[in-house]
Amino acid sequence: MTRIGVAGLGHWGKNLVRNFDELADLRWLCDVSAERREEFTRRYPTANVTEDFADLLADPELDAVVVATPVPTHYGLARQVLEAGKHVFVEKPPAMRGEEMEELVALAEERDLTCMPGHLLLYHPGVRKLKELVDSGDLGDVLCVYGNRQNLGVIRKDENALWSLGVHDLSVILYLLDEEPSEAWAHGNSFLTPGVEDVVFCYLRFPSGRIAHMHLSWLDPHKMRKITVVGRDKMVVFDDMELERKVTIYEKGPWQPAQTYGEWQTRTGDISVPKIANDEPLRLECEHFLALVRGEGDRRGVARDGLGVVRTLEQLQHSLAAVPA
Ligand SMILES: NC(=O)c1ccc[n+]([C@@H]2O[C@H](COP(=O)([O-])OP(=O)(O)OC[C@H]3O[C@@H](n4cnc5c(N)ncnc54)[C@H](O)[C@@H]3O)[C@@H](O)[C@H]2O)c1
Repeated sequence: MTRIGVAGLGHWGKNLVRNFDELADLRWLCDVSAERREEFTRRYPTANVTEDFADLLADPELDAVVVATPVPTHYGLARQVLEAGKHVFVEKPPAMRGEEMEELVALAEERDLTCMPGHLLLYHPGVRKLKELVDSGDLGDVLCVYGNRQNLGVIRKDENALWSLGVHDLSVILYLLDEEPSEAWAHGNSFLTPGVEDVVFCYLRFPSGRIAHMHLSWLDPHKMRKITVVGRDKMVVFDDMELERKVTIYEKGPWQPAQTYGEWQTRTGDISVPKIANDEPLRLECEHFLALVRGEGDRRGVARDGLGVVRTLEQLQHSLAAVPA
C-alpha cells in the first residue's frame, strides 16, 4: 500500500484525507493550525499529526505527499516534495507562474516522479463523456467551446475568479481540444476586494482556428457549472448542476438548403441524454494518482497538462492586469 501524507486539512483537504485514508496507508497529517491538528488527531488516531511539513519529507518510508494548502504555497511545497524524492499530488493550480510549473515538470521528469495537479473535473464521468464525443468525431468538427462558472464557492480575497474558478474550465477546455491557445484575452473587474477580480470574461483562440470563452464570476443570479461544445453536426452540454441530465446531446447544426441559395439555417433533430455513472470524481482522481505512483499510466502527461493550464492562466492574468480596473 502506498504510504501517504496530506498537508492542508481545510475545507478541501478533509475530502482528500477521507479518500486517501480509504485507498492508501495514511501516515501523516500536517497543518499549521493547532485547531485543525486537534480535530484530525481525533478523527484519524493512527496517523502522525504535525505542524512541520519537514517531518513528512524526512520520513524515508513515505512514498507521496498531497498538498492542499492555499494556492501561493503550492509551488514551494511541491518542489520540496519532489526534491525529497517523493511523488506529489498538488491542488490546483500547482504554481502561479509558467516558469515555476516548468521547474516542477522538469524536476518530476528528471527523477521519474509523479507531479499531478488536482484537475478534479477531468475525472468527472460527464467530462469523460464529452471527451469521448469530441474524439469519436460524433459532433463533427468542433468549432467552439464555452464554460460558465458563476455564483459558486467561497468568494476568495487572495485569489481572483480567474485562478479560483477558471482553472477548472480551462483544464477541461485544453483536455477536450488537446491544444494550447495561441491567443488568450481576459477582461474583468474587482467590485468587492480591490485588485481581486470577481467577474472575469475570457477569450481563447487555438492554432486550429477553434475558439473558446469562459464566464467566471462570483456575482451572478445564476448558479452555473456548465460547459458547452459546439460541433458542426451536433452540440453537447455538460451541466454539473443537473442531477440526472448531466450531459445533453443536441442533433443541431448549420446547413444550407438548396432553395435558400447559400443562406445558412439551423437543422434541429433529436435531443438525447446518455447515462452518466454516478462515481465520485475525487475518488477517481485519488485512484489515478495512486496508480501513477505505482508506475501505471502516463506520469509525464499529467504534469504537462498542468503546465498548459498554468501557462494559459498566466497569459490571461497578464491580459487582465493590462486593462485598468
Ligand atoms: N479541486 C477542487 O475542486 C477544489 C475545491 C476547493 C479547494 N481546492 C483547493 O484546495 C486548496 C485548499 O483549499 P481550502 O478551501 O481547503 O482552503 P482552507 O483555507 O480551508 O485550507 C487550507 C489549510 O492549509 C493550512 N495551511 C496553510 N499553510 C500551510 C502550510 N505551509 N503547511 C501546512 N498547512 C498549511 C491552513 O491552516 C488550512 O487549514 C486550495 O489550493 C484550493 O484551490 C480545490
